Amino acid sequence: MRALADEQAVADHVAGVLLEAMLDGSAWPLGLATGRTMEPVYAALVRRVAALEQHQQQGLRQRWLSFNLDESVGLGAADPGSFHAAMHRHLLEPLQLAPSRLRLPEGLAVDPHAEAERYGAALGAAGGIGLQLLGLGLNGHVGFNEPPAAAESRCHCLHLSAASRRQNAAVFGGDPAAGPARAITLGLAEILAARRILLVVTGAAKAPVLRALLRQRATAELPASWLQGHPQVEVIADRAALALALAEQPA
Ligand code: GLP
Repeated sequence: MRALADEQAVADHVAGVLLEAMLDGSAWPLGLATGRTMEPVYAALVRRVAALEQHQQQGLRQRWLSFNLDESVGLGAADPGSFHAAMHRHLLEPLQLAPSRLRLPEGLAVDPHAEAERYGAALGAAGGIGLQLLGLGLNGHVGFNEPPAAAESRCHCLHLSAASRRQNAAVFGGDPAAGPARAITLGLAEILAARRILLVVTGAAKAPVLRALLRQRATAELPASWLQGHPQVEVIADRAALALALAEQPA
């Protein structure tokens, strides 16, 4: 567990860990997440990469292979609300990566269940995730593994919970019903198979779920709690997110 002052300090730290693992090769294939938590992380990573020598930047581009956790069903790369579009904005364009090096489930696939199977198999064929970056949903989801979530679940297509649709609403004009109803997500099995995991949690809104995560035993009702059984997971959080977890327990 690493407690840092604020969102910016968390972003800088996580970007440093990511870059080090990318340069020493242990990060590949890299597991990526979307969401507000990751925006400052990716901005910090872009700044760090820009400070590298040209040949190192070129090496990173050649080596890059990332698999995102999830994508909304029904949204394609041309839709600004898709995770494809977010990854293009935050990483692909600033780092000048080849689109084929940044993988996400195809939200426009005719059969999303078959697409989930294909995507999981593609990740398996690439050797599974080296370093997995994770955000935390307000209801304890990781990727889009909604509670209750079995630790053995594999890449699948699912209906989003009301809580997640509310969390997504900001991207779709504030209306939870305007956003996607389904998503394709890597399962807990693929996430837990990552060789190393960074769980990044910032902001006061996450304080209750982070407290639950740090105090409860592993349970399907809190999908992120399955991470407790992983041998190399680090939680990186800011003071606001840790406020309740670190508060004194009642006598
Ligand atoms: C989203 C995504 C997750 C993300 C999490 C937290 O809905 N499916 O991959 O990490 O919820 O999002 P945010 O960082 O916006 O709080």
